[in-house]
Amino acid sequence: MFPEPSLSLLETTIEPHLKMPTMTDLDHAELTYRDQKYSLPVIEGSEGELGIDIGNLRRDSGLITMDPGFVNTGSCKSAITFVNGEKGILRYRGYAIEDLAQHSSFLEVAWLLLFGELPSTGELEAFDQDVTLHSMLHEDFQRLFGAFPKDAHPMPTLASALGALSTFYDEPNTDLEIRQGIVRLIAKMPTIAACSYKHSIGQPAIYPRNDLDYTQNFLHMMFSTPCEEYEVDPVVARVLDLLLILHADHEQNCSTSTVRLVGSSQAHLFASIASGVFALWGPLHGGANQKVIEMLEEIARGGGSAREFLERAKKKDDTTRLMGFGHRVYKSYDPRAKILKGACQDVLSRMGGSSQLLDIAMELEEITLEDDYFISRRLYPNVDFYSGVIYKALGIPTPMFTVMFALGRLPGWIAQWLEMRNSPEFRIGRPRQVYVGEPLRQIEKPV
Ligand code: CMC
Repeated sequence: MFPEPSLSLLETTIEPHLKMPTMTDLDHAELTYRDQKYSLPVIEGSEGELGIDIGNLRRDSGLITMDPGFVNTGSCKSAITFVNGEKGILRYRGYAIEDLAQHSSFLEVAWLLLFGELPSTGELEAFDQDVTLHSMLHEDFQRLFGAFPKDAHPMPTLASALGALSTFYDEPNTDLEIRQGIVRLIAKMPTIAACSYKHSIGQPAIYPRNDLDYTQNFLHMMFSTPCEEYEVDPVVARVLDLLLILHADHEQNCSTSTVRLVGSSQAHLFASIASGVFALWGPLHGGANQKVIEMLEEIARGGGSAREFLERAKKKDDTTRLMGFGHRVYKSYDPRAKILKGACQDVLSRMGGSSQLLDIAMELEEITLEDDYFISRRLYPNVDFYSGVIYKALGIPTPMFTVMFALGRLPGWIAQWLEMRNSPEFRIGRPRQVYVGEPLRQIEKPV
């Protein structure tokens, strides 16, 4: 295995503050089935959310609950992120996303998600230093990228490389090993992401620099070449940092649930995260940000008729969807989209780029807000709607958009994995089903 220098910070100073909320037995719900009554405990979360605990329902009644797509199923108790979709609220560890976006850096937010509190100045400096010192990849690992086709999408390259990282590091088991694993993941993810991109354009990988901060370093590895050093614009780096903060966690979404489910078999931390990256890639999840920009470009190429595209998205017999619109949880404006819409205008005026795509996006939004189809279904712009316009203005290539989402979501995935592993209710994830196939039958071979 590849030896690493010891991580002084992680050996000495931090204790994870993994808080689980105190759940009080508020009441009981009663279920009547065939004249039998079953009493089910109701639990209440710290923001007043109520859940019926059906853990013993099958044992007591033979019944399971059915909820395809987990539309109304709580899979865990969590103290990390609070979302209120009706009111458009998002908080990490109790802090409003708007405040964190304005006052914090991405590494600060990562620490908050992982350990429950904002870091002190000393803790943040030490964390920053540890992450900086572990951003390089083993030379043998670098060779892996050569095995992927040149035109490979960077998302499967990133996910495969993260999986492969588990061949370089033993399964982290003790607290210290897990914390070392966390630092390695956060430190190496931007390097791997940039390598995936460099490989896709046939350029050599660029080594990280210890004098740059997290986001600046990523931009350097993306855009420097052996012939020319990329000069990082601090404004671009700050906007990227903001994007990472906004994506850092979003409770039990598809990729996070995947990370938790894979991790619940006690799979390797890196393998659990790699599976989250694959889940994020889909166009209904993180892959939507790439699809949004492709949609806006398609509209622009066709002369810019936003309304025509919108009409297609409404038709039942047309599979077109308005990408970047709608959300399973938000039934009002996604607070992340609100922040990004404002940032879009700032970035475009500073970068001096074409505002055509932003104009189309804003026109699309305006029409939907007056359209019965979207109003009645409560479909609003989500985080992916405006993020692509900003990535484009910052010079991030379109296939890298979802990779940027993954970079941001990493601390959230790890925090959720940690919380699951440390939960007193830890069990392997294993949903039930209702079998609807053939009943028992005999094999009939032709004579
Ligand atoms: N365009 C047109 N119609 C839509 C859209 C859309 N973007 N989203 C939902 N609908 C319609 C849908 O057809 C259905 O209509 P009906 O009731 O007539 O059958 C109704 O709204 C409810 O939709 P649903 O598919 O049952 O909702 P869901 O909660 O299962 O799906 C979603 C949520 C985000 C997958 C969906 O809204 C969608 O496909 N949006 C576009 C993809 C997208 O932007 N994804 C990023 C999500 S936010 C970031 C992230 O989590 O990664």
